[in-house]
Amino acid sequence: MRSPVMVGRDADVRRLREAADLVSSGESATVLVLGEPGIGKTRLVSELRAQLRQEGWVVGTGHGVELSGGEVPFGVLAETLRDLVRELGVDEVRAALDGQVTALAPLVPALAGGAAGRGAGGGTDLAQVINATADLFEAIATGRPLCWLIEDLHWADASSSDVFAYVVRSSGAARVLTVATSRPTGDTELFRAPTVDVVELSRLGLGETREQLQHLGMDHPPAILERIAVLSDGVPFHVEELAATWDGTSIDTRFLRRLAGGRTAGLSTPGRELAEAAALAEGHLHPAYLDQLGFDSNVQREVVAAGLLEADPSGEQLRFCHALLREAIEQSLLPADRERWHRRWAEALEDTAAPMSVAARTTALAHHWAAANNPACALRYAAAQ
Ligand SMILES: Nc1ncnc2c1ncn2[C@@H]1O[C@H](COP(=O)(O)OP(=O)(O)OP(=O)(O)O)[C@@H](O)[C@H]1O
Ligand SMILES: [Mg+2]
Repeated sequence: MRSPVMVGRDADVRRLREAADLVSSGESATVLVLGEPGIGKTRLVSELRAQLRQEGWVVGTGHGVELSGGEVPFGVLAETLRDLVRELGVDEVRAALDGQVTALAPLVPALAGGAAGRGAGGGTDLAQVINATADLFEAIATGRPLCWLIEDLHWADASSSDVFAYVVRSSGAARVLTVATSRPTGDTELFRAPTVDVVELSRLGLGETREQLQHLGMDHPPAILERIAVLSDGVPFHVEELAATWDGTSIDTRFLRRLAGGRTAGLSTPGRELAEAAALAEGHLHPAYLDQLGFDSNVQREVVAAGLLEADPSGEQLRFCHALLREAIEQSLLPADRERWHRRWAEALEDTAAPMSVAARTTALAHHWAAANNPACALRYAAAQ
């Protein structure tokens, strides 16, 4: 289930295109594609790779992988080199390496003559690997432009990251384009290097999300499509996941619960309670109210760091990073807890001054008191609406 059309990324494609054109004309360039999980980093660079290959570029790709037991030194670089060997043939790569085959042979045994060459180069030396790689890229790029694509840089092993940093800082060889994708958790210092163009992928707008759904070519009823569009929050991966759960009658929200479970699992008890309370009060998550509910700024920061809440564009209040997360946490609440939090929200709103319009406050109070099973209070505010 994938949209054959990549929607809403024209400006980002243009930025990549500009970098590629610069490289074609003899310069070097580095682009970092930054964005949250599922936003479309891989999709964007896959389309770039296909296009560059069509134009006669050489593209070598390496992936950072999340390993539970440590990391593979030079893993990303080795994968890139194997990709280049596959594309160009071992003879051309060996010729391009000239006298430096031994520096990279431990990473790619084929370079040293297949199985017999395994270990022929002995250990790896970072400085030698960096030199040999830089020279190799330069030699390949004399023939035709070269793109080094690093996927998921945030998971790249430290030694490959060092090679990448070197290439970026030395602004690389002429006719080499380095493109890396990363979630926003990586080496922020490197991202600020003047030679790096950062392309940050934003969420799709509601119209673009609807367009993506259309391209998935499914016959969901319009109301379901609209619900998916809203719940997905403009993250293309969520659109696909939610749409894929359609069984002819409903969409399956277990996906939402798994997602939320992952984000709340590591929270402290107050952190989890804040998330639960917040799930019932989207639209008025002012820090003053949260303080009143007993969640100090440390707990607030914890929940923000966990990727559950973020500051809204006004900076005055918090909001859920995803509609999905809020809904999932709300669904996981026991009825008694739900009622208790609604009552506490109603009391907090009555007792605390926070920047909220009178109308919004009255509506929120009517809602919280009703859900707290206090119809008398609810009616009082409902009458004032
Ligand atoms: N602009 C888009 N239009 C249509 N589909 C898209 C778009 N962007 C991404 N998708 C689809 O959404 C899914 C997730 O995208 P992708 O794998 O590129 O995300 P990602 O940012 O690389 O995520 P991760 O951080 O997990 O690697 C893919 O199936 C992809 O084809
Ligand atoms: Mg990806």
